[in-house]
Amino acid sequence: MATIDNSRGFTSNVGAILAAAGGAVGLGNIWRFPYMLGQNGGGAFLLVYVFFVLTIGVPLMMTEFIIGRRSQKNVVGAYKSLSPNHKGWIVLGVFGIVCAFLIYAFYSVVAGWTLNYIVLSCSSQLAGKEPEAITLLFQSFTESSFWPLFYQLLFLTLTGVVITMGVQKGIEKVSKILMPVLFFLLILMCVRSLTLGEGTKEGLNFLFKPDFSKLDGSSILAALGQSFFSLSIGMGAMVTYGSYIRKEDKLFNTSLWIAGCDSLVAILAGIVIFPAVFAFGMDPASGPELVYIVLPNVFNSMPAGGLFAVVFFVLLGIAALTSTISLLEILVAFAVEELHWKRSTASILCTAIVFLIGALCTLSFGPLKDATLFGKTIFDLFDLITASYLMPIGALFMTIFLGWCYPKVEVRDELSNGGVIKARAFELYYFVLRYLAPIALLFIIVSGIIN
Ligand code: PFF
Repeated sequence: MATIDNSRGFTSNVGAILAAAGGAVGLGNIWRFPYMLGQNGGGAFLLVYVFFVLTIGVPLMMTEFIIGRRSQKNVVGAYKSLSPNHKGWIVLGVFGIVCAFLIYAFYSVVAGWTLNYIVLSCSSQLAGKEPEAITLLFQSFTESSFWPLFYQLLFLTLTGVVITMGVQKGIEKVSKILMPVLFFLLILMCVRSLTLGEGTKEGLNFLFKPDFSKLDGSSILAALGQSFFSLSIGMGAMVTYGSYIRKEDKLFNTSLWIAGCDSLVAILAGIVIFPAVFAFGMDPASGPELVYIVLPNVFNSMPAGGLFAVVFFVLLGIAALTSTISLLEILVAFAVEELHWKRSTASILCTAIVFLIGALCTLSFGPLKDATLFGKTIFDLFDLITASYLMPIGALFMTIFLGWCYPKVEVRDELSNGGVIKARAFELYYFVLRYLAPIALLFIIVSGIIN
């Protein structure tokens, strides 16, 4: 019997779950999700979001894992090896690489901000400031050139160091330490927020009580886009991590755990943020600056707020780091396996390229503010194009590939670990893969374009 080679990937199922959950849990959960929920009517948005995660998100994550684990390759190599007679599918892998560059470029801007806010909160520079001063601080920081670029480069370098250490000693080890820390800090923040007294009921009502009258087509679309971004699906992150999952691990259970962790963190972030926002009379629908402008004001008004500000921004930094690790790994795995670069060389070169593109995103808050297309800055364009278009388009073609162009028996074989486990829900999964997911994806893409 052939022995299973696990030397290239994660050493355990827990390691795989924590690493992939680390990739999924990120700024999307703690920075993007609360403000999207705030702007799209609260509880009803949450319900729709969870519905999409379960019905489309989990099957799509399984799809990426199947492609990755079957091929044992990076995102480009995967399509090359699974479809040797139709080289055209390699384009889908290249598409994933381009997508990873674009996401990493704008994501690292906000990731860098967290470092600045860790420094500001540790040195008590946010404490005791009037709301106007906090807004001014955020604006003057993001509009300047040097410090945002400095923190962005620092964050990229930190990520590069972890990736250079490798899959087991870098990604898996760091995720095993940081993910439990993240959960601990998040629960600590929840306890603080829930014991503020006033605001708790209102905040929890806003988060959990669905008011369907506030739901319209665009908020449903926003919930769908958010679930994609949050689960990191559609551009190869999970293909890459899938190639590191052990052959004996169950892909359905693993996906469910990751999606569960991801949604849990988003909900806990909501529990941290909304009671506090209501307790201090702030606006839950204030948008992307919710975390960087509204929360520092909230911290200033609460007992021991200085300490909790530090905890919160460290938490945000950790969440961002485990995600940037997964973004860089997509690129480095490709460069190492396809271009035969050394891992350290690949880390440095990919980081340098991302910094060059990412600098444009950083400067689009300041010197390049007026460089706009369709009224959007470079940063906004990168965010919009990737989350709303490229990720759903990537996911659509991925479902077409696995559902329509790859043999069904092979898909069943991979999902059942070569027939060792019973893949009971296989037919249901296959139905979602062939019909439900592509139709839903087509719907998102077309309505996105029409909007
Ligand atoms: N899922 C991450 C978040 O929610 O912050 C964002 C992300 C990471 C998207 C990695 C795509 C990716 F490959």
